Amino acid sequence: MENQTNHIIEICIGSEEDAKEIVAVHKASWIATYPNEELGITKEEIETRNWNDSERIKSMQALASGENLDERLWVAKEREKIVGYAVGKIKDDNELSAIYLLPEVQGKGIGTKLMTEFLNWADSQKDCVVDVAAYLADTIEFYRHFGFEGAEPLPVIDVPDFPAAKKIPLIRMRKKAVG
Ligand SMILES: CC(C)(COP(=O)(O)OP(=O)(O)OC[C@H]1O[C@@H](n2cnc3c(N)ncnc32)[C@H](O)[C@@H]1OP(=O)(O)O)[C@@H](O)C(=O)NCCC(=O)NCCS
Repeated sequence: MENQTNHIIEICIGSEEDAKEIVAVHKASWIATYPNEELGITKEEIETRNWNDSERIKSMQALASGENLDERLWVAKEREKIVGYAVGKIKDDNELSAIYLLPEVQGKGIGTKLMTEFLNWADSQKDCVVDVAAYLADTIEFYRHFGFEGAEPLPVIDVPDFPAAKKIPLIRMRKKAVG
């Protein structure tokens, strides 16, 4: 499959060996996306989160193990390098619990490929939901593009390994079940 970067982008199920590379993508994507002057959220605070915490890596490995059929991890690879990933979980709703790309590959259709995998995998009898930081206007547009609507405010909770005074306001967007 050829994408707009002119490189082959392969979407596959993540494996346990991918865990560290996935966490590195998560970190780079956060650094590029989450700083917010108004809320006082700085790049430095994001950089110094405990990204290589063994629990974080272990939970990614558990997801990749495929033991739980209600959870799935997809990775986007460009020439064997992981450039993005997404995580889906089927609970009361189909939850897109993560979708992150390296900053340099954003806006080229890779997020669409990952989202399509999630939507095809999701239980068609259930709504799909995603929680997003309320100030990420571009990301909210991306979800709207796929039919996610609304902005249900979620309780403000502490972000793990983040200064307690810095809260990230989250909203929940929902795409109604078709079935
Ligand atoms: C959000 C993200 C996964 C989207 O993936 P992407 O590959 O950049 O998006 P795509 O190129 O597939 O865009 C698909 C559509 O979404 C919309 N969209 C994407 N980026 C947009 C932007 N910056 N502004 C407005 N609309 C946008 C457009 O409608 C676009 O369709 P078009 O290209 O036909 O106009 C990616 O940009 C990313 O990792 N962002 C940073 C991390 C993040 O916010 N993750 C989600 C946390 S909840």
